[in-house]
Amino acid sequence: MSANRPAAVVVLAAGEGTRMKSKTPKVLHEISGRSLVGHVVSAARELNPEHLVVVVGHAGERVRGHLTERYTGTRTAFQAEQKGTGHAVRIGLDELGQGIHGTVVVVCGDTPLLSGETLAALATTHASDGNAVTVLTAEVPDATGYGRIVRDAANGAVTAIVEHKDATAAQLAIREINSGVFAFDGQLLADALGKVRTDNSQGEEYLTDVLGILREAGHRVGASISGDHREILGINNRVQLAEARALLNERLLSRAMMAGVTVVDPASVLIDVTVTFEPDAVIHPGTQLLGTTHLAEGAEVGPNTRLTDTTVGAGARVDNAVAYSSEVGPGASVGPYAYLRPGTRLGAKSKAGTYVEMKNASIGEGTKVPHLSYVGDATIGEYTNIGAASVFVNYDGEAKHHTTIGSHCKTGSDNMFVAPVTVGDGAYTAAGSVITKDVPAGSLAVARGQQRNIEGWVARKRPGSAAAQAAAVASERATDEN
Ligand code: UD1
Ligand code: CA
Repeated sequence: MSANRPAAVVVLAAGEGTRMKSKTPKVLHEISGRSLVGHVVSAARELNPEHLVVVVGHAGERVRGHLTERYTGTRTAFQAEQKGTGHAVRIGLDELGQGIHGTVVVVCGDTPLLSGETLAALATTHASDGNAVTVLTAEVPDATGYGRIVRDAANGAVTAIVEHKDATAAQLAIREINSGVFAFDGQLLADALGKVRTDNSQGEEYLTDVLGILREAGHRVGASISGDHREILGINNRVQLAEARALLNERLLSRAMMAGVTVVDPASVLIDVTVTFEPDAVIHPGTQLLGTTHLAEGAEVGPNTRLTDTTVGAGARVDNAVAYSSEVGPGASVGPYAYLRPGTRLGAKSKAGTYVEMKNASIGEGTKVPHLSYVGDATIGEYTNIGAASVFVNYDGEAKHHTTIGSHCKTGSDNMFVAPVTVGDGAYTAAGSVITKDVPAGSLAVARGQQRNIEGWVARKRPGSAAAQAAAVASERATDEN
């Protein structure tokens, strides 16, 4: 790839994208965890170009801010008025200064499915054929809106690109279209852009006119037909956005499956481009894996699970859960119906069970929180069991406080741990306790009211009630038995 390292890649992203009907500029809409322009920039970066410049315009500051934050080192050029794709490339080249020698690749910011390999193949064809320009084309079922590739009837050479709005009836019948992706000789491109006119139906400077200009000047014009027309899908509206998302998702899941991941029902699973897997991971239906989520070998997730920036260890099981920025240790078990919030770390073979919420909590190896509990701002040692319906009372209305529980503890059901508080190793706590004071290692803490039975209360206070009758029967039975 580096043999054909381009001198520059210019990404065109100044258009408004009115058909999205959105306050968000088109190129900032997301699919599979990346903005549209982010996908294009990522593919462009695979070429390792000397320069990469994105031409921004509509909502330019927002797009620029997004790029500088997420794609550090990306240069932007500002096209104040959208006067056409040729004008946009001119602005991009101006940003890079005079005299770009070598290949300049131009791509549109709204073609997120375009792969780095396709761009590299285009650059390679361009170099090996010694072309002045090489355009990536595709045969599409419906060419509406696209520029048509006009070829010489005798020898098949590309003679021009004609925009849909400027095409004759015969040209409209052509199914080979301009993808909007080109490789140019930098010097010839700069010269030709100076000669592009605006005498077309839109009064714009068309980049596509450069082909005719170069050809008429006697230069070699080539075309490389894309093997898969879906890859050059340009996004203009939200139907196409969903179409592109589905295609990319399918591509990502196929890659995962070929690498040894079982996806039980691909149609109901969504993953981001940044998700990684190890072989024998299993994804059940209705699952979304987002951000930097990683599934280790044999990890099993779903059904109905959404994991964001979460690592699931080898052989761990996550069922009907939602997690953000969490780590699930090897062999650990989460759910069904668990919510892991940022900073949750579950040790090996530990458990966050049913209706359990955790936040900023570290749970040691083999420790279990099986039922109906909230564990927030806590550190729990190894092989401890937290009783059902326990709450780590971490918030006093102003600040959050930490609870520390040792290893091999058994805390009773329905405990409140009022932070800051520490329970020592091997300690027990009684059911229903409100633990406000530290519990020394090995002790039993009982922190609840004493039970008092007021005998005969029902007969006196609720005479004739069903409860009183039942009590009377019970008392007779007890007398008979004695
Ligand atoms: C363009 C091509 C067409 C091709 C199609 C592929 C031209 C004249 N036409 O048409 O042959 O089939 O793409 O999708 O090149 N942009 C700017 N500044 C501008 C104008 C456009 O940055 O002044 C950017 C847009 O943000 C967009 C890209 O260039 O990312 C393409 O512009 P768009 O208006 O969508 O061109 P199409 O009509 O789709
Ligand atoms: Ca377009």
